[in-house]
Amino acid sequence: MGVFETIGTETHESVHFGVDAATGLEAIVAIHSTVLGPALGGTRFYPYTDDDAALVDVLRLSQGMTYKAAAAGLTQGGGKAVIIGDPTELGSDDLFRSYGKFIDGLAGRYITAEDVGTTVPNMEVVATMTPFVRGLSIETGGSGDPSPGTARGVVAGLSAVSNHLWGTRDLHGRRIAIKGVGKVGYALGRMLTAQGVELVVADVNEIATDVAEHDFGAKVVAVDEIHKVDCDVYSPCALGSDLNRDSIQRLACSAVVGSANNQLAEPADADRLTARGILYAPDFVVNAGGIINIAAETGGYSIEKSNMMIDRIYDNLTEILTRSDALGISTEEAAEHLAEARIKAAQRQGEES
Ligand SMILES: NC(=O)c1ccc[n+]([C@@H]2O[C@H](COP(=O)([O-])OP(=O)(O)OC[C@H]3O[C@@H](n4cnc5c(N)ncnc54)[C@H](O)[C@@H]3O)[C@@H](O)[C@H]2O)c1
Repeated sequence: MGVFETIGTETHESVHFGVDAATGLEAIVAIHSTVLGPALGGTRFYPYTDDDAALVDVLRLSQGMTYKAAAAGLTQGGGKAVIIGDPTELGSDDLFRSYGKFIDGLAGRYITAEDVGTTVPNMEVVATMTPFVRGLSIETGGSGDPSPGTARGVVAGLSAVSNHLWGTRDLHGRRIAIKGVGKVGYALGRMLTAQGVELVVADVNEIATDVAEHDFGAKVVAVDEIHKVDCDVYSPCALGSDLNRDSIQRLACSAVVGSANNQLAEPADADRLTARGILYAPDFVVNAGGIINIAAETGGYSIEKSNMMIDRIYDNLTEILTRSDALGISTEEAAEHLAEARIKAAQRQGEES
């Protein structure tokens, strides 16, 4: 398929290809929008089956970043990068230096960070060639691991949902089922336990569930049981497409609030949740804490500044839930409207000035 055919009808500001035969670098940067600010998004290093698959992924992910940043109220646009190949075979420092030069050539329209398949040490190598990198370690002046920030954002989302459904932000005594107690799920479990929440967890990794049982007194259930757990909130913190035709039928909760990206397997799943009377907190709104933490590096990072910015997820989600009720649309649609309205307002301002 031709490149423009693959890109299809979605509008992206620009798409850039970086190639370096000496290091094996084959990278694509998609800049979806810089209306709100420079396009921010991580670098995914993945052995895609072919170039088309990589292009489709980077286009989709960069668009998602525009919506995530806009819904979070950040002055950042949306972009994403992919490097094609197996990071364990190809991920040399030479490759990341070459990649850094490529990113530098985009002159700050795109700012990168780590993502699936890349690490903070990789990004530190990239940073030797370009200033347009974020999410470096605290020791090198960055914001460190974004996972605690992401978990904090999920807690803000849970409080907003609790206030909307039960008239209180207080989560004490609630029962929350977490699928996936990895970096975010664990940090979330720690924060919720401190607030007196009763936890039920499931994970394919037995060590992760043992730790959650030991540290939080969490009840452990099998992975194929977690959707059925009778609870106040179900929190998907593992992989995407967790909410689908089958799993939604099994849910026994009042709301879904979790960190996983792309939780809905297909757009119709938002309506399936509504039809079952389950309040869905759109993933790209409640899992924005990590990107907000990274954006907080602009102008000098501090944890206090980052936390303050992350806690705004409470107000953002409250606005979305209120609009969803008022307009009779799904929460997903209401979240998209909010993001689009912020982008359009910035566009108008840009045209007027
Ligand atoms: N880390 C962040 O700051 C961040 C930011 C935004 C979104 N997210 C999203 O949140 C989710 C979790 O991210 P993470 O950084 O904690 O990843 P992670 O890899 O540290 O944790 C994921 C956990 O899910 C478990 N898991 C995987 N497949 C499973 C399955 N089928 N059933 C049950 N458990 C399963 C893994 O064993 C692991 O413990 C991902 O979808 C990620 O894209 C993470």
